[in-house]
Amino acid sequence: MPASRIPESSQAGLHDRLDEVVRRHLTLTWQQPLRLHSVQAFESALPRLRMAPALVLDSGCGTGVSTVKLARRHRDALVVGIDKSDARLARAPDLPDNALLVRADLADFWRLLLREGLHPASHYLFYPNPWPKPDHLKRRWHAHPVFPDLLALGGRMELRSNFELYVREFARALALAGVIDVEVVSLSIDEPVTPFERKYADSGHRLWKLTANPGVTT
Ligand SMILES: C[S@@+](CC[C@H](N)C(=O)[O-])C[C@H]1O[C@@H](n2cnc3c(N)ncnc32)[C@H](O)[C@@H]1O
Repeated sequence: MPASRIPESSQAGLHDRLDEVVRRHLTLTWQQPLRLHSVQAFESALPRLRMAPALVLDSGCGTGVSTVKLARRHRDALVVGIDKSDARLARAPDLPDNALLVRADLADFWRLLLREGLHPASHYLFYPNPWPKPDHLKRRWHAHPVFPDLLALGGRMELRSNFELYVREFARALALAGVIDVEVVSLSIDEPVTPFERKYADSGHRLWKLTANPGVTT
């Protein structure tokens, strides 16, 4: 397999508009209409979501390989893998009873969970699209208008990336939101949790992990 490349960005450090953008989003309730296909997928999943003793989210789960691994780790919870890509989800492995895959847009799915009062105990975001171009700042989850909803979901959050700037910006956005319990570490990988993690580790990339408890604020 060809080596993969670390995202290259013309940004030398944190985006110079990061604080302004995040602060503005933190004062607004994002009103963009929900996509119909996300609502339909959410409604199909809702009975299982409501019945679950606890919820764990694998947001941007790709093919669902990590969803299966998380389901083995969190046996007392329903682990929900969410991805917008039909093509990736079509390659999902067999799922254990406590795992579920949903095709939906995360910016909808997170708001729908909140609307139903459903909160995950743990929330994993493994290798979100990095959007390294400065012009794409608002596509990064921490600078996206849905960021306040992501925080309001709560739970122990874990983000992994091979793009250090993304993780540092995410940490800064959490600080702006008053989240105090944030840790960023460099990861060494023995057993990759996801296909992208495997690809990046095999290519010798330095990998980063951020953990936070958005419920713990100043
Ligand atoms: C770089 S891949 C990582 C996949 C997997 N987590 C892994 O580590 O192997 C990013 C994934 O996020 C999904 N994704 C990106 N934006 C999304 C969105 N707005 N809603 C749902 N899924 C999204 C993509 O379809 C893709 O599968």
